[in-house]
Amino acid sequence: MFDYRRTHHCGALSKKEIGEQVTLSGWVHRRRDHGGLIFIDLRDRYGITQLVFDPALDAESHATANRLRSEWVISAKGKVVPRGEGLTNPRLPTGEIEIRVEEMKVLSQAKTPPFSIADEAIEVNEDLRLTYRYLDMRRGKLHKSLLLRHSTMMAIRDYMDGEGFCEVTTPILAKSTPEGARDYLVPSRVHPGSFYALPQSPQLFKQLLMLGGMDRYFQIAPCFRDEDLRADRQPEFTQIDVEMSFLTPNELFSIIEGLLQAVFKETIGQEISLPFPRMPHAEALERYGTDKPDLRFGMELISLSDIAERSEFTVFLDQIRAGGIVKGLCVKGGADISRREIDEYTAFVGRFGIQGLAWMKVQEEGLSSNIVKFFGPEQQAALIARMEAKPGDLIFMVASSVDRANQGLDHLRRKIARDRNLIAPGTYAFLWVVDFPLMRWDPQERRLDTEHHPFTSPHPEDIHLMESDPLKVRSSSYDIVLNGYELGSGSQRIHDGELQRKIFEILKLTPEQINERFGFFVDALQHGTPPHLGIALGFDRLVMILSGTDNIRDVVAFPKTQRASDLMMDAPSTVDPTQLRDLRITIDPEK
Ligand code: AMO
Repeated sequence: MFDYRRTHHCGALSKKEIGEQVTLSGWVHRRRDHGGLIFIDLRDRYGITQLVFDPALDAESHATANRLRSEWVISAKGKVVPRGEGLTNPRLPTGEIEIRVEEMKVLSQAKTPPFSIADEAIEVNEDLRLTYRYLDMRRGKLHKSLLLRHSTMMAIRDYMDGEGFCEVTTPILAKSTPEGARDYLVPSRVHPGSFYALPQSPQLFKQLLMLGGMDRYFQIAPCFRDEDLRADRQPEFTQIDVEMSFLTPNELFSIIEGLLQAVFKETIGQEISLPFPRMPHAEALERYGTDKPDLRFGMELISLSDIAERSEFTVFLDQIRAGGIVKGLCVKGGADISRREIDEYTAFVGRFGIQGLAWMKVQEEGLSSNIVKFFGPEQQAALIARMEAKPGDLIFMVASSVDRANQGLDHLRRKIARDRNLIAPGTYAFLWVVDFPLMRWDPQERRLDTEHHPFTSPHPEDIHLMESDPLKVRSSSYDIVLNGYELGSGSQRIHDGELQRKIFEILKLTPEQINERFGFFVDALQHGTPPHLGIALGFDRLVMILSGTDNIRDVVAFPKTQRASDLMMDAPSTVDPTQLRDLRITIDPEK
């Protein structure tokens, strides 16, 4: 029997081991036949080692090496020798040695892979990589992401443990939680017609853990949400879920800042300076048009309605009259942006419902543009001053409803930053966004709804406005933003039964609805609730940013596509009719 147990990994050997007898096992990465000698790059998780097959040393292994193909799994025994003069590879840790193979065994053969594993420079269609995820995993990029994911998890657990947090596993078969997305439901066989909901987050459990006196909880927690997917969203994702009692938001901020500092240091060796800046929600919208501003570059949005109002540009005037606003941004040195590019930017903001994109180039002698004639000298000077514009800059302006103008300009700002390389690689801009509104108007349901979830505490200074002006009430909630991504979100929770009742009343939830949806929870709050607060950070998003990609699927071992399918397993799929019968479920084929 050939003993394929390894003495070393494929990344381990160097000049130090010259002369040693070793056994290596792994995948055939590349094979080269140099007339007589056959060279195999053998690969495993740890690296690549060159094997040499010499017919003079072992004719049988050499003959087998002749048959080897990419991705076959082999085991080889031999002696570590220095590579010949001029044949070393300084890019490989094992590049100074090779193994002269004395004995080799093929452990398993492989079909020709659907894409090259060895040649990562060749771009491979993502669907194909998802279908053959185990092959994609053999390539360096995904491999590195998964190792980074692991070291991130270890750094989190170390830090949280050090801060006295206890990791508790909460159920997956649970009841609907209040995060606002659609639930994934699991039918019960034992209780026909009843369903579990997969947790959108462990929100209720973690609050109940505080009621249970656990004091400091965290969990690297799987969450499930049936929502429209984007590049930074998966239907099944992981949160760093945290809850703590008898502390204040300031204390939570410094615990989470410490966590992120430790994670960045331990995973990618990046120093992060503390504390992170804070910005009220209203200010973030005003200056960046979004509640998750990317602070790695400037180009803030500037309100221009008061200047536009004094112009004769009817497009602007009409919008303002209709309750809209005029807002703009200044692209430093942007006078080189061509008319064709301006047309492309115009089409781009059009996607967000904005009718047009006005522009003005700043020159030594003043503004130039197709619409400058509608602005008198006073208004032109005011525009230049407000925008702090210099000759060579370009001003973009939009007129629209507040929401559309903000959304369009936020996207435009980020697009221009990408197009003009305004973001220095390796920069990390953290921000706490605070003072979110507690409620928003849901036009479809024609009632108020909570921005976060109904257990979020109103800002103590605004509680008196709860009944008279609920849309003015700020909440005690916060988001943590990193490089323009919402990395996490949390809040101070309501621990007072009376206040909780009032919130439900404003949300127009009937006692029956409350009872059915979270009656057990409202009851629990009446059994002695400590003041408590928490946060959840998107773990996958964090790893995505750490690894420098903008696609969350790059850092998930077995992700779902945009259409929430697993291409490798072919899930979701139909099930055996007997399973449906057991669950007493019938499928209507018409629908
Ligand atoms: P929230 O719903 O804001 O808060 O989620 C917290 C963080 O989880 C990440 N996230 C996602 N990541 C990938 N794919 C998704 N579909 C997805 N959805 C959310 C984001 C987000 O900031 N229970 C509350 C937290 C609390 O109040 O403590 C909650 O889940 O990074």
